[in-house]
Amino acid sequence: MSIVPLSGLTTTDADTAQPMTDSQPAHLSVNDLTAPPHRGILTYMRRSSPLNTSQTEGLSRFRHLLLEQPLADLRQHFEHPERPLTVEIGFGMGQSLVAMAQAAPERNFIGVEVHIPGIAQCLYDAGTAGLTNLRVIEGDALVLLAAMPDASIDRVQLYFPDPWQKKKHHKRRFVSPERMALITAKLTAGGWFHAATDWEHYAHWMVDVLEQVPGLSNRYGPGQFAPRPEWRPLTKFERRGHKAGHGVWDLIYIQQE
Ligand SMILES: C[S@@+](CC[C@H](N)C(=O)[O-])C[C@H]1O[C@@H](n2cnc3c(N)ncnc32)[C@H](O)[C@@H]1O
Repeated sequence: MSIVPLSGLTTTDADTAQPMTDSQPAHLSVNDLTAPPHRGILTYMRRSSPLNTSQTEGLSRFRHLLLEQPLADLRQHFEHPERPLTVEIGFGMGQSLVAMAQAAPERNFIGVEVHIPGIAQCLYDAGTAGLTNLRVIEGDALVLLAAMPDASIDRVQLYFPDPWQKKKHHKRRFVSPERMALITAKLTAGGWFHAATDWEHYAHWMVDVLEQVPGLSNRYGPGQFAPRPEWRPLTKFERRGHKAGHGVWDLIYIQQE
């Protein structure tokens, strides 16, 4: 099994989320091998853009930080597999993930993304910073999580996920009862799910969903948003939200024993 080669970019139709056949990669991606929980409904849209110099270098020089296979238990890929594992879903360009990994050498971090320039940039930044506690995976996080052992991730973080603003696209929002059932199965007892968004409608949507997820409890009390943690670095999309005059809402839910 191999992950789609990083040159095999696809574009995706927003309504059907089906890859366009004229630009499909020649090789299988993990998506072809394992059915995601919501087959046919993707939480992302692939965007293609050329790689800049550092991104190109990131892919060649630091490719060892990109996990290809086996994907099963992600902890085994670290020098210290016993350390708690944080998985970030949709890290974008990765600057905040790299900063978090740098600030917490006592933890292991895995970033999952489908956006190739972001993956390449994250590899470059992590590699040039000499990080040993961060690995990157290209692919749909839902597929990856489904292949992980239960109760093996200490924290899952989802920062500024695509808000899928139109009502007809709400089914593509990452936070849904079905997708959260998968997340909670993978969290350790006492582990947490941390989400942040600058989209007010999605913030309240998240609360509505998360309050109903069996086994999760809101760290700040039922229905409460979390104060913005000072250890969460500003992300690219958060900065964009600030410029547009948006608020920011954090939510932290703990997996019960
Ligand atoms: C709006 S961007 C936010 C990026 C970054 N977290 C930030 O705050 O700057 C959302 C990202 O999530 C990624 N994404 C969405 N669903 C995903 C999935 N199921 N697996 C992996 N990445 C996903 C998208 O490719 C996109 O880069």
